[in-house]
Amino acid sequence: MADDTREALVGVIGGSGVYQIDGLENTRWETVPSSFGEPSDQLLFGELDGQRLVFLPRHGRGHRYSPTDINYRANIDALKRAGVTDIISVSAVGSLKHEYAPGHLVLVDQFIDRTFAREKSFFGKGCVAHVSMAHPVSTRIGDALEAACKELGLAHTRGGTYLTMEGPQFSSLAESNLYRSWGCDVIGMTNMPEAKLAREAEIPYATVAMVTDYDCWHPDHDHVTVEMVVKVLLSNAEHARSLIKTAAPKLRRRPLVDEQGGDHALEYALITHAEA
Ligand code: ADE
Repeated sequence: MADDTREALVGVIGGSGVYQIDGLENTRWETVPSSFGEPSDQLLFGELDGQRLVFLPRHGRGHRYSPTDINYRANIDALKRAGVTDIISVSAVGSLKHEYAPGHLVLVDQFIDRTFAREKSFFGKGCVAHVSMAHPVSTRIGDALEAACKELGLAHTRGGTYLTMEGPQFSSLAESNLYRSWGCDVIGMTNMPEAKLAREAEIPYATVAMVTDYDCWHPDHDHVTVEMVVKVLLSNAEHARSLIKTAAPKLRRRPLVDEQGGDHALEYALITHAEA
């Protein structure tokens, strides 16, 4: 019977506190140039039980780039050039719901983009494309993450809406309440335009949103501090590392085409070529 799968190359974008992956062997940091400028860092190539993996620290080693200053286009372009076929994004977030206490993981499936100071597309100026973002997360990668959370006994929820704010300041109380009234589940500063660019690059993408705080809407936690975020970040980072180790092997082989995940996103996008 014909094999309708192929080997995947999983790329992991690590958020705050996640600067390495447990058990990664034969590692080497490599500079992968991009025509969109400087990625946040070199890419770390390695093997997890014989499975090749690529890691990129979103803020750079030593946390050098603020959410606004991250070159999201160069990051996604570098991963594409490295041959990455699937992306797991690990991100620290604030909770907008009572039931998502610090430490909870939300496998989000929707985003609201409130950022305004970032380059958001590979296209424009001569070649215009409008990819669909109706379903921005790969169900297949989500399935692997969910199965891994269950195996590890990690408190998690499948599905949810991640609101991306520009930052770097945290939200005002009015903003936090507004996003809650919209039904958002978590808030962070980095997943947009990352998810949009992954879609344009035709790389299926899924996020593990790791709750570090209750933002400022919660009566018992009336403001967010970096100290609070960093404290929870460290224990979340351990969960993130074991989650990647457990989820990646489940993604080792992938369908030839993950249509839902966006493998052919540009085929259905409206693309305009400028007159020569
Ligand atoms: N990242 C972690 N906690 C956050 C919060 N409360 N708001 C925005 N980004 C965050």
